Amino acid sequence: DDAECEARLLAAKHALGQRCVILGHHYQRDEVFRHADLTGDSLKLSREAAQSEAEYIVFCGVHFMAEVADILSRPEQIAILPDLAAGCSMADMANLKAVERCWRELAEVIDPDQCVTPVTYINSAADLKAFCGRHNGTVCTSSNARKILEWSFDQREKVLFFPDQHLGRNTGYRMGLPLDQMVTWDFTQPRGGLTVEQIKNARIILWKGFCSVHQMFRPEQIDRFLERHPDTQVIAHPECSFEVCEKAQYIGSTEYILKTIREAEPNTRWLVGTELNMVNRLADEVRPHGKAVHFMSPTVCMCSTMFRTDPQHLLWVLENLAAGNVVNRIKVNDGDAHAARLALNRMLQVT
Ligand code: 13P
Ligand code: SF4
Repeated sequence: DDAECEARLLAAKHALGQRCVILGHHYQRDEVFRHADLTGDSLKLSREAAQSEAEYIVFCGVHFMAEVADILSRPEQIAILPDLAAGCSMADMANLKAVERCWRELAEVIDPDQCVTPVTYINSAADLKAFCGRHNGTVCTSSNARKILEWSFDQREKVLFFPDQHLGRNTGYRMGLPLDQMVTWDFTQPRGGLTVEQIKNARIILWKGFCSVHQMFRPEQIDRFLERHPDTQVIAHPECSFEVCEKAQYIGSTEYILKTIREAEPNTRWLVGTELNMVNRLADEVRPHGKAVHFMSPTVCMCSTMFRTDPQHLLWVLENLAAGNVVNRIKVNDGDAHAARLALNRMLQVT
């Protein structure tokens, strides 16, 4: 039962001591999140993984996060994902074959190796980070996207940004790029469904991927809420649509959203567009300070793959480690890990 699982989790953690560090993303459910030694957004957690001295890095998050932990840690350290089925549907919207096809099709119009910096959102498979490493590109997260785009435009005139169109468009727009210079590459169409002129004029070519959780938030939901509570401040994750971000006063990563509301004046009201587990936890935390935190959507939308990691999977992993068995290791092949590390280290140096 739950109490027994909790007691065994604490015992297994105690037995492993400093040999094991548990990293927890903000979208994890409470029963898992409270066992994390370190919590954060994707950028903070990748830095933690890179700096960790622990033998085992247990990542309560999704697959690409554990891959990053493996790539950035030392070869003898072991990255573990408690449930191997915890993927990210957005990350799955781009794959190496399709991105290589895009690069070849761009080469029919421009010379991509001369004029395009490929930038992958950290929510992507390791072989795509490796692609960016090999083509003088880099990686970004939701908290450093602007700095990374600025760096990218210092290198070359255009950016190919994948997989999340919204993060790319929302960031580019706030840097002053006009919408018609940010074109969407529909990877189901020949040449992305774009004309030669569109490709030549584009500053950012946006892969047509999106987060199925954040696309549930709609601008009408904000309008309806503001009719009832005009005193509300709206804050959204940049994976939300352009229309939602246009109505938000604040846009940023999970860590930014937490910090902004924690540091806000008491007796303020917030409408938040990001994952439900985090919003509920934040609402409970700040309620005693008179701050009201509301979830943007009237329907439940949470990240079902983040939710896959439950206390039972975490317990199974920790008890096995304590008994000397490594289970659910995430190991990126050496070739991809080397090239992906180049791209990730460029990101960490820039931000
Ligand atoms: P951040 O925590 O980096 O803002 O990312 C959110 C997310 O969707 C992780 O998959
Ligand atoms: Fe992927 Fe969206 Fe879940 Fe983040 S919230 S892990 S982007 S599906």
